[in-house]
Amino acid sequence: MKISRPITHLFLGVALLLGLILFREFGSKRAVKKTAPSGAPPVAVSKSTGNDPFAPEQLVSVGERVIFGGHAPKFEPNQDLPVGRGQCPACHVILEGQRPTRFPKLIGVLSRAGERIQEERYKKTAQKYAETGEPKTGIRPHARTAGEYLIESIYCPSCYVVEGFGLPETEDAVSMMPVIDRPEVGLSDYEMVAIIAYVQAAEAQGDLSKVTARQDWENYFGKKLTAGDAIETKAPSAPAMPDFSKVGLAQETPEEIIEKMACFACHTIPTVPIAQVGKIGPVLTLKTTAAKRIASPEYQRALKEGKVRATTPKQYVVESIVNPDGFIVPGFDNAMPKHFKERLTFAALDRLADFLLTLDEEAMKNQFQSSPADTGGVSKTRD
Ligand code: HEC
Ligand code: HEC
Repeated sequence: MKISRPITHLFLGVALLLGLILFREFGSKRAVKKTAPSGAPPVAVSKSTGNDPFAPEQLVSVGERVIFGGHAPKFEPNQDLPVGRGQCPACHVILEGQRPTRFPKLIGVLSRAGERIQEERYKKTAQKYAETGEPKTGIRPHARTAGEYLIESIYCPSCYVVEGFGLPETEDAVSMMPVIDRPEVGLSDYEMVAIIAYVQAAEAQGDLSKVTARQDWENYFGKKLTAGDAIETKAPSAPAMPDFSKVGLAQETPEEIIEKMACFACHTIPTVPIAQVGKIGPVLTLKTTAAKRIASPEYQRALKEGKVRATTPKQYVVESIVNPDGFIVPGFDNAMPKHFKERLTFAALDRLADFLLTLDEEAMKNQFQSSPADTGGVSKTRD
């Protein structure tokens, strides 16, 4: 039996959802900002980089590819940017003119970084994790320069959490940002350095003398990056950005639907990086729970009363989404939005349900497990 969820969860989630929607509405109202550049980012990437993988131009170019999935991403003013394997533009505004996202802007982050590490908050966290390291990554916060702070931000998001962007009920101790070099995203150290090189070059308007990412990495981890580390991984690219105006179309992946419909605001969904914080609804592990729900006395009662009709797990999942009033999972509030029936096409709903039915506790446990490296260094075990 589930214990009753505190009402604060509900408020948090509804606030998050509302904030998200308002933010987007507000964002699109400002679409008229006429000088917003579209197309090329403020970084000139030279193609002739010789064969030094650590030459600044080369790093910036790789970083650009990892962040956006390609060179000189094209975008209309106030539109989303293409999202590469690094996933950064899915959550952050990286280029002027990009549609606002729900998380902190990265524009100007380098100058903020220097201030962050001077803050009392940073020092407190550093002290707290001085012995054990930050729980998820084993890293001890110890950035001394703005560049090192950027490195630390992507290897250990919870080493400093921007106020208001921690997971609910952690008092901003645990970041909502995924650990970028771990399974969720899975980049190599080389790509991690390249990403920061790109961020530095973008902030310096393309001045490559400001690209210190490799040095920052080496200072931060206290070891050298060698030519042998210059590995680019080949994970599939991340799903495209949500667009609330186009929903439930035939081609979307389940992950995209989850993002567009903001299911993640309320549900934790195993294997979906964006959906690791929701707490208002149950963790969606329907591979095991759907059948149990149907068999439960509460569901059977609703069935007798004619409120619900599912007899198979698939029917249960579809029904939960299109007729959420029919049966309320015990221990939860009746907070699931009622409009999904209108917003999802049949095909999209079908794919979403099939996907949700592949997820169980096991997926939850395995997917994001990371072995803390208590050396403060970086785990090299990737395939
Ligand atoms: C799923 C969403 C998500 C993704 C993907 C993501 N971030 Fe973040 N990021 C956040 C959130 C939320 C914060 C604020 C909390 C924190 O400080 O950790 C943040 C904070 C940061 C900060 C610190 C900002 C500051 O003002 O101090 C940096 C730097 C950063 N992210 C860089 C990146 C880069 C580079 C990428 C791509 C490799 C990336 N992030 C991908 C969500 C994300
Ligand atoms: C505003 C919060 C909220 C949003 C957004 C939301 N849900 Fe829910 N969802 C809930 C709550 C609360 C419950 C439990 C109460 C109930 O059964 O209605 C629930 C229940 C469910 C269930 C039944 C789970 C179980 O274990 O039996 C499924 C399936 C589900 N939601 C899927 C989704 C999907 C898919 C989306 C996005 C398309 C979504 N939800 C969006 C709050 C939300």
